[in-house]
Amino acid sequence: MDQFVVHPSGPLRGSVHAGGAKNSALKLMAACLLAEGRHVLRGVPHIVDVEIMADVLRSIGGRVAWVDADADADADADAGTGVVGEVGAPGDLVIDVPATLIPEAPYELVEKMRASVVVLGPLLARTGRARVSLPGGDDFGNRPIDIHLQGLTSLGASFETVHGYVEGVVPDAGAGGRLVGNRVVFEYPSHTATDNVLMAAVLAKGTTVLENAAREPEVADMADFLTAMGARITGAGTSRIEVEGVDELQPTTHRVIPDRVVAATFFAAVGLAGGDVVVVDARANHMDMLLRKLGEMGVHISQTTEGLRAESNGRLHSVDISTLPYPGVATDYKPFLVTMLSVADGVGIVTENLFSGRFRYVDELRRMGADIRNEGHHAVVRGVARLSGAPVRAPDLRAGAALVLAGLVAEGETIVTGAVHVDRGYEDFAGKLTALGADVTRVAG
Ligand code: EPU
Repeated sequence: MDQFVVHPSGPLRGSVHAGGAKNSALKLMAACLLAEGRHVLRGVPHIVDVEIMADVLRSIGGRVAWVDADADADADADAGTGVVGEVGAPGDLVIDVPATLIPEAPYELVEKMRASVVVLGPLLARTGRARVSLPGGDDFGNRPIDIHLQGLTSLGASFETVHGYVEGVVPDAGAGGRLVGNRVVFEYPSHTATDNVLMAAVLAKGTTVLENAAREPEVADMADFLTAMGARITGAGTSRIEVEGVDELQPTTHRVIPDRVVAATFFAAVGLAGGDVVVVDARANHMDMLLRKLGEMGVHISQTTEGLRAESNGRLHSVDISTLPYPGVATDYKPFLVTMLSVADGVGIVTENLFSGRFRYVDELRRMGADIRNEGHHAVVRGVARLSGAPVRAPDLRAGAALVLAGLVAEGETIVTGAVHVDRGYEDFAGKLTALGADVTRVAG
């Protein structure tokens, strides 16, 4: 088991890139399925989840290749497809989508990454059929896809669950039948369900209105991408999105927005260790509520010509935190905030409103000396003067990153096993922290 070995290091200094947003890039990759031809995605992070989504697209019939610094991407991506189009610049992800798709996402891949379910909408829209393995529960607890299915059903699809797969079909699929626009009212503003239904709606006949849609910046990024492909969408980024269906889309080139959760990770690192760090690609308007909370805790964030600058003397004040759908404080930030509260002056009450199981890392923080009591959706965090290094286990991606941050202010050595969880969403996490002056090493287990 690969691990991170962390020692306290003092204040962090320098600048760092957050990189492209995982939760946008994964969905944009799926959206490529909506148009035959060559798509180029810029700024896609080199993370494990992107590789899994690339495998999903390959199993559907697509070709996916990174453009190397010196390689001829065209030669890589062209081989065997006969698709000719934009070549892409170094670092780009080139996705070639054929005319005929294999409308299936197999268990082996969906099981590795539940976000694979986002191919459901594009496959139904393009082929009139989709067979996608049902994602199981995960470390956050029960995570159903009923809202995705209700939305797609409103557009005319029907579903059956067979042998662990959800099988969807559009009426008269064999005779060119299409989804039909409708008014879809989401019971909850689910991020990925909004992506799925939005992608289905762009090729549906007529008008679709999504009410109580997710408002995440990544949904707006998806709409920008689809619009560049020829879709007609208004209102993305608000809770009411209107889509005028079109008959066909064209491939395009698009730059992914920066990752607000990775940016938040570096802000939290500065809050804990102290220092002065610029996250050059962070966008304040994607994280208003978080920046307010960080300010209340004593982390000063300012806009500079380069990006967002975080300054802290490492002394933190407690606040209460309640996670909510965007624009509220994202559940993804919570492990970093709870880690900060662990060493802040005072008591903070934390309420999780999205995922029932998202407090599992608290046991690990307790092993490091944190004073946290939790029951159900709530945790009470009493700040202690100092954490104490210990061997701990990363239960999931963000919690794993938070435990590494805890190690920055824990006496002695902290060993975080389960580094693979962190690799799912961070590009060279240890390297980026080390470049800022932290003492973090990734060790092969
Ligand atoms: N929900 C349902 N039914 C559904 C869909 C969702 O009951 O059909 C419930 C969930 O169980 C949960 C709540 O709705 O209680 C929120 O789920 P949502 O669908 O909004 O989350 P998601 O789209 O599955 C995305 C991110 C998560 C992030 C959440 C919340 C991706 C790939 N994942 O998940 O990010 O925590 O939104 O903002 O976009 C991560 O990056 O590691 C990650 C988990």
